[in-house]
Amino acid sequence: MSTAVTKGVILVGGPSKGTRMRPLSLDCAKPLLPIAGKPMVWHPLAALAKVPGLTEILIIGFYEDSVMSGFIKDAKREFPNIGISYLREYRPLGTAGGFTTVIRDSILRPPVPQNIFICNIDICSSWPLTEMMELHGKHRGVGTILGVNVKKETATNYGCIVSDPSSLVLHYVEKPESWISNMVNGGVYLFDKSLFDEIKIAMDDKAARAAEDPLLQLQSDEILQLEQDVIVPLAAAKKMYVYETNDFWRQIKTAASAVTASRLYLNRFKTIAPELLASSSAVIIPPSYIDPSAIIDPTAKIGPNVAIGPGVRIGEGVRVKDAIVMEGSTIERHACVLNSIVGNNCQVGPWARVDGEPEPEQDSKGKISVTVLATEVTLAPETLVRSCIVLPNKSLSKNSANQVLL
Ligand code: GTP
Repeated sequence: MSTAVTKGVILVGGPSKGTRMRPLSLDCAKPLLPIAGKPMVWHPLAALAKVPGLTEILIIGFYEDSVMSGFIKDAKREFPNIGISYLREYRPLGTAGGFTTVIRDSILRPPVPQNIFICNIDICSSWPLTEMMELHGKHRGVGTILGVNVKKETATNYGCIVSDPSSLVLHYVEKPESWISNMVNGGVYLFDKSLFDEIKIAMDDKAARAAEDPLLQLQSDEILQLEQDVIVPLAAAKKMYVYETNDFWRQIKTAASAVTASRLYLNRFKTIAPELLASSSAVIIPPSYIDPSAIIDPTAKIGPNVAIGPGVRIGEGVRVKDAIVMEGSTIERHACVLNSIVGNNCQVGPWARVDGEPEPEQDSKGKISVTVLATEVTLAPETLVRSCIVLPNKSLSKNSANQVLL
């Protein structure tokens, strides 16, 4: 196994991204939304921190520094041997634009890395990074991409990959109009440091195209997309390889997918980090995560697939299953929360019922599956809310189903 110096980059986007997570992302930046009890950005960070030879992790996005500072402080404490910082783009530069301006110097300062991992934030995966490194060390390409297999009907929503038996990428097409492959871009990449040369070539190429194309002239010349502007030409030049995984993988774009991702990670904790899970007892069904500061009545029944945040209070006889309950919320006696996300500081009254459907396999437009209560929603006793999105600060006393409650 190579122990070449490696650095990691996590792309977190900014406030104009993650719109499908609204209303949750109105009060909590998407990278900090709790998935299996940990901020979304913690999962790639913890995976990177285990990579042999990894010295530094740079988180890049266009959130204000103050949004990310608390997380960075906690992460530095948790992973003291790795440099961890947040670098801010002052406007969205695309998935590769920040490499030339915002993070180039930090990445290339000593120890100069041989390898650079790039991780999207909005995916849930087993993060097979050491396996990607092994494959990367064996071929002579510039980059290795994580490939995952999805259903044929959904493949064209992703970057599609066609490869040969040696794992060489033959074609890469971002969201093609018609089906070309079930193997898609998993949003994790490992590059040689010559990535910076490829980005420079892509920038020059874009400038040349802009000279002829008035539409491109309207776009800032600093914006660059890793997928279309860098990986497409690298694949065409036969310089990209793919590491195909059959392990679990999901995009985390919607509230419903956050509940699914929480379940997948909680299940994974059973083998890789059982100490993170609440201990099994008559009333806690694993896998479940319960923050140590939460107060759970001994007669409540929690789990499986539940993540309970800091300061949450769960009353007598409460039932919670397949759900995320965020910081400071109270679920009062005999209430029931299933297939739902309860946002920060909500109050679910006695005998109330908050439930929904599990995430559907395919996006069914307009249909709400998981119920989401945004920040500071109050439910009166015995209220039933089923498959609804409830906006912040609402007080509900009537039963509702399949609605967005403004
Ligand atoms: P959609 O299906 O349109 O959402 O596309 P996608 O799944 O390919 O995702 P997208 O390209 O929007 O984002 C991929 C990753 O890059 C995510 O982790 C985003 O948070 C991040 N990202 C997207 N745009 C930017 C950007 O301008 N700057 C930074 N730093 N990150 C970005």
